[in-house]
This record gives sequence, structure tokens and C-alpha cells, in this order.
Amino acid sequence: MSTIDLQALIPNNVNLGENRQLQRALEHWQPAFMSWWDEMGPSDFNAKEVYLRTAVGVDASGWASYGYTPMPDYRWGIFLADQEENRKIGFGDHMGQDVWQEVPGEYRSAFRRLIVTQGDTEPASVEQQRLLGHTAPSLYDLRNLFQVNVEEGRHLWAMVYLLHAHFGRDGREEAEELLTRHSGDADKPRILGTFNEPMDNWLSFFMFTYFTDRDGKFQLKSFAESAFDPLARTTRFMLTEEAHHMFVGETGIGRVIKRTLEVMKELDTDNVDTLRKAGVIDLPTIQKFMNFWFTSSLDLFGSEASSNAANYFSNGIKGRPDEAKFADHVELESEMTIQVPDGKGGLRNETISTRNGMNEITRLEYVKDCNVGVTRWNMAIKRAGVDFELSLPNSRFRRSVGVWSAAHTDPQGNPISEAEFNARKDEWLPNDADKTFIHSLMQRVTEPGKMAGWIAPPDRGINANAVEYEYVKL
Ligand SMILES: [Fe+2]
Ligand SMILES: [Fe+2]
Repeated sequence: MSTIDLQALIPNNVNLGENRQLQRALEHWQPAFMSWWDEMGPSDFNAKEVYLRTAVGVDASGWASYGYTPMPDYRWGIFLADQEENRKIGFGDHMGQDVWQEVPGEYRSAFRRLIVTQGDTEPASVEQQRLLGHTAPSLYDLRNLFQVNVEEGRHLWAMVYLLHAHFGRDGREEAEELLTRHSGDADKPRILGTFNEPMDNWLSFFMFTYFTDRDGKFQLKSFAESAFDPLARTTRFMLTEEAHHMFVGETGIGRVIKRTLEVMKELDTDNVDTLRKAGVIDLPTIQKFMNFWFTSSLDLFGSEASSNAANYFSNGIKGRPDEAKFADHVELESEMTIQVPDGKGGLRNETISTRNGMNEITRLEYVKDCNVGVTRWNMAIKRAGVDFELSLPNSRFRRSVGVWSAAHTDPQGNPISEAEFNARKDEWLPNDADKTFIHSLMQRVTEPGKMAGWIAPPDRGINANAVEYEYVKL
């Protein structure tokens, strides 16, 4: 087991104290991170005591401690999963060779680009969510928001550590840049589209943590296979924290649905206007928000056929999620089929090499994982005796990246004309009236244990505490 230095200015299990130069460089970056947090982090809550989980180690049985902390005092640390003895590369052209403790020169720019892109998403989401604290539906939810925020901050630290430790001056410059791009900024936006989308309501926050943090999970799982061992170890530990973010999303959406079903039963109606007047979110609107955030997140996986993705795989840079479960780890000759627009308003099959299809393979795994929650929500709807089914749109729908970005389809994935798409998009995606309605519900609730009218209480509190616990001392 690695030794953990919790007393250090930067808590870590990477023996930072023994590498003075690296330690100094990171201690130099730390104040820049803190002023970024002040300016771009959760607005107005920095002085409040929040019941937070803090990573204090990488031992599965007790990796975190809980307690009240004002967010700026959170101990953002650097934690890598323990090194596996004799770990070998598990896929691609270097399969079976020893993993790398340093980045090979020929792959340096590819690794740097991927680490920067991953690192960019972490502070981006904090920026997107910075105003949500003002409209939290309960103290429990407020605490969860802040928990996600501080952990995204720690994920930024995780990527910045790699940049500083393994990429020299370039890495230090990239680490600075990670604090100067901002979500939605006209001149210096964040790198990926989804992370520039405005997020001004809690339904979107739950969709984001369900769908977009899950994209994060699959990216991290791919990196966890990497031949570059420090990247694999960092991301493996990040996944431990990431699980809570998706829990927030899944239970958040589940609680919204539960509350809607209660009111549907009370009033014996599925009339959208009646339900909205009663202050709950009708199921068709939930479907629309799902359509938006799911499709936006699908783009994050990149193009269906990608020579970059093939190179990442061949070179051992990035594997498939849970690489061990695939039969062939080299995929030298194998092929797969993808669907592409046929240029005549329809679709046709195209055969590509499996290596070129790595993004699509990962996306398919992601879709499967997304469906687990949808199935659970549908069970609740069915149990309530309501005739309505939520479903993920087809992955060809509303894409801005990849082979379908130039075509239009309906949510079932049938190609349609641009005119038809535009005529019907208000039925499929949140329209102005939907957004205005959701906005009208966003009123903060601050009494411990109380919930806003549009969301049911959670089944249980955090860390064996009651739902009524004072999770944030306002
Ligand atoms: Fe993250
Ligand atoms: Fe996350």
C-alpha cells in the first residue's frame, strides 16, 4: 500500500515530498486553482459548513472521511490507486509488454491532448453548476451538488498532477490553461460542446449527472486500461468518486418521477396542464430533457469511424471499457458494421475495421449502461399503473458529431428532412414553454428534511444520517 501524506499542503499518496521540484510547481498552481474556485465555483456558499466526503486514501474499505467543511477548506488531494505489481499492457500492438511509468516520446502529444481534454471537463462542470445552489430543492440536494463540485475539482487536480509530473513545461502551461477556459465563454470556451451548455435548473443537473457524468465514467474506464500506468491508476481511483455523481443523477430523476406519479394518482390525471398547475413535472417533459442530455452526451464519444481512436487503441493509449471482457484484445483484422446516411434520405450499412470503430464500441456500452436506470424508472411508472414509457432516443438522433451530424432523424432514428425536424423539434426537445415552466419551479428550500413540491424525498440520507440532517449550515 502507498503511504498517504494528509498533513502536506497538497494531500497525496505519490510521495510528493520527495520530489521538491514537482511539489513546488504544484504548490504554485494551487493558489491559481483557489482563485478559480472563488470566481467560478459555487456562487455565495464558500463560507458555509457543508457535510462533505473527502478522499483520504485509496483503501476500498475506508477511502473517505465525512464531516462539516467550508468548501474552500476541502483538502483537494492527489490519489492514485495502488500500483499493481508486474502489470502488463492489456490490448493493442504492445499487448503483453510491461506498462509504462513514463510517457513514450512518440505518444506524448496524444496523451497530453487526451489528459487535457479530460481535465477540461472537470472544472467545466463546476462552472456550469455554479448558480444551482440558489435554487436547491432541499439541503440534502444542495449538499450533493457541492459534493459533486468539490470532487470535480479533485479530478482536475488528478489531471493536473499528470501534466506537471510527466509533461514538463508544456504540461505546466496546459495546467494554467485549464483555469482560463470557461464554460460558455465566447472567446475561450471549454473544449467539448456539452460542457458549454448552460445549466440553470435542477432537472438538467440530474440529467447531466446521470448522462454526462456517465460519459465520464466510460472515458475513465477506457483510461483505466491505459499502458501509461499513472494514468490508469489515477482514473481507477476517480471512478470511485464518480459513482456518487451518477447516483445523484439516477436517484434525482427517480425522485422527480416518483413525485409526479404521486400527484397523477392524487388528481387522477395525466393532463400536462393540470399537472404543471399542481407544480410537478409531467412525464413527457422529463422525456424531452432526457432526449437533450443523452444525445448531447453521445457526441462526447466522438465519430463512429475514427483513425485517432484506432491509433489510441493500437498504441496502448486508451483501451475499451472493461477491456478484459472482450474476446480479442488486438483486433488486427476484425471488422464491424456501422450505419451511415446513404445520401438519399435513408441509411446503409458500412463495414469498418474494429480498430476504427472504438468510439462506437464504447458508445454502445454507454447506451447499455444508460438503459439500466431507464428500466428502473419505467418499473416505477408501471407499478403506479400509469401507461407511459420513457425511452432513450436512437443514437442517430440530434447528433452534432460523427456520421449523423449532417443528417436529421426522428427519435427512433428514422432519417427525416431538416424541415420536418425543425417542425417537430418542440415535441422532442425542451422548448421555450417547457424551460419557462421548469424555471418557475426552481425555488430554494432550506429547512432540513423539507423538499420542493416537484421532487420526492430520498429513501435515505448520506452516510447513515437521516434525510432531516442539516447537510448544509446556512
Ligand atoms: Fe469528474
Ligand atoms: Fe463526475
